[in-house]
Amino acid sequence: MIPRDFIDTLLARVDIVDVIDRRVPLKKAGQNYQACCPFHSEKTPSFTVSPTKQFYHCFGCGAHGTALGFLMEYEHMSFPDAVAALAQDVGLPVPDSGEPERPKPPPALWDALEQAARFYKQQLKQAPRAIDYLKRRGLTGAIAARYGIGYAPDGWSPLKQVFKDYSADALAASGLVVDGERGRYDRFRDRIMFPIRNIRGQIVGFGGRVLDQGEPKYLNSPETPLFHKGSELYGLFEARAAIKAAGRAIVVEGYMDVVALAQHGVEFAVAALGTATTPIHARTLLRHTDRLIYAFDGDAAGRKAAWRALENSLEALQDGKEVSFLFLPEGEDPDSHIRTHGQDAFLRLLDTDTVPLSAFLVRELARDRRLDTQEGRAALIKEAKPLLEKIAAPLLASLIQRHIAELAQLQADELGHLGLRPMAARRAPPRPQRRSAPSRVRSLARTLLMNPQRAAEIDPCWLDANDPLSSPTDELIAWLREVGPLKPQTLSETAKGSALEPLVTELMTDLLDKDETWDWNAEFDGAVKQLRDDWRRRRQQELATRPLDSLSASERQELTELARS
Ligand code: UTP
Ligand code: MN
Repeated sequence: MIPRDFIDTLLARVDIVDVIDRRVPLKKAGQNYQACCPFHSEKTPSFTVSPTKQFYHCFGCGAHGTALGFLMEYEHMSFPDAVAALAQDVGLPVPDSGEPERPKPPPALWDALEQAARFYKQQLKQAPRAIDYLKRRGLTGAIAARYGIGYAPDGWSPLKQVFKDYSADALAASGLVVDGERGRYDRFRDRIMFPIRNIRGQIVGFGGRVLDQGEPKYLNSPETPLFHKGSELYGLFEARAAIKAAGRAIVVEGYMDVVALAQHGVEFAVAALGTATTPIHARTLLRHTDRLIYAFDGDAAGRKAAWRALENSLEALQDGKEVSFLFLPEGEDPDSHIRTHGQDAFLRLLDTDTVPLSAFLVRELARDRRLDTQEGRAALIKEAKPLLEKIAAPLLASLIQRHIAELAQLQADELGHLGLRPMAARRAPPRPQRRSAPSRVRSLARTLLMNPQRAAEIDPCWLDANDPLSSPTDELIAWLREVGPLKPQTLSETAKGSALEPLVTELMTDLLDKDETWDWNAEFDGAVKQLRDDWRRRRQQELATRPLDSLSASERQELTELARS
């Protein structure tokens, strides 16, 4: 735990105006500062930052908080990360939190990269060949500036102009130079330079493209203490606001794809850095958005890369979030597509041509397989199993599993033979061959998952004590009243590890049986009516069998009312 008084010291040291202004440019308005709110979309600024009170408040959407809260919201940082980020800004060491310290890269490393980036940018201005190249690729100066694009001049060690001590250790550690047999030289020479920023906007590495047909086409910074290809995404820092506004992010293959899309107004694209997308990439992006689209070439290589992206996304999936794939027409990448066909055409592709992860998964598993033979179907199941087990979203896993079972011509109750972990098959007790109608309590409980707000209408005394589900349902009702309505997925997530888990898990399988046309309100009403009527009958019988003079006044009153209804 970070001590409370350290947080106070920290907040006293930082200026919220400064913290926010670096991310959302602010304008002075009287005593305060203003901007259009980064947390909802608006045309006139209602997002206000108070330098005296050191907090922000949005009159439009009600968002408010301190500099720490802002970082957590805006940068999607955890509390300790936000504390660490602010502390680093003002040069305060974070007191020992009892966790092992991650070794911190020396400040000289950050510095070296920033200085080099500045140099490359400035060199671009003096390199007509490089400027021509970028223009030929359809980029304007504004977009080059936005992405900090530069040019590394030719020659063995142009960086000597920047670093007085070219032999410094930090230079080698930053990946900017290579120590060869005949001494040290610049890694990037005669290349267009794309700085790679981390989520805080700090430069952690570079990608450099040749201007001609040279090899390799792209040269990337090596892994350094600051730069880990498996966790950084090119363009994420620049794309954050657009991802939020668009409600989706698109992952493309190349630097130029990201930049060209932005040039044409599609600013929510990022790229993995010359590697396959990793589970960390997927998880990072799904923290920023609910809809993730991977774009790949339509050819065999693109499909193969897409499959790897799929495999690496399974463990990051969450119910309620959507991962899909876009396969571009043969021979096109996002860069060439948007330059030839324009923004509208590209956005249309995104809307109409994406394949949901589930469909892509099943399609690829079934591809080139003989599903008319038992061998073919067994092979399908064998290959599907490890993939299904990786899926972190229980509902989606169940649905895909069902689909695959159908392809394999298994009956629903043979799903268990898949031996899969997903929740639906995992904990539910073995079922009778033909499922009988659900008990009324079960009916009520499962409709509560779909209509949690109706928990308030139920009187727990209606639950039939003879039904084994009554006691957990009673608990479910109390729980829903306490935490408020939750979506079924959230509920199943939240119930994990609690006494309610088995019930919720079992009920979820009921939900999977029904499609969108199922009328949950009608089922709810029906179940409530029957339970209430049954209870009334029981209660009436109970009261009626007792001698009249043993009843209290209110019990007599109750009996009269029960007899009337
Ligand atoms: P591509 O070869 O598909 O090139 O590489 P591209 O993105 O279309 O590039 P342009 O349009 O010719 O400029 C896709 C990505 O793979 C990585 C880079 O990240 C590149 O953006 N790559 C490619 C390398 O790291 N090294 C290479 O030599 C080639
Ligand atoms: Mn390209």
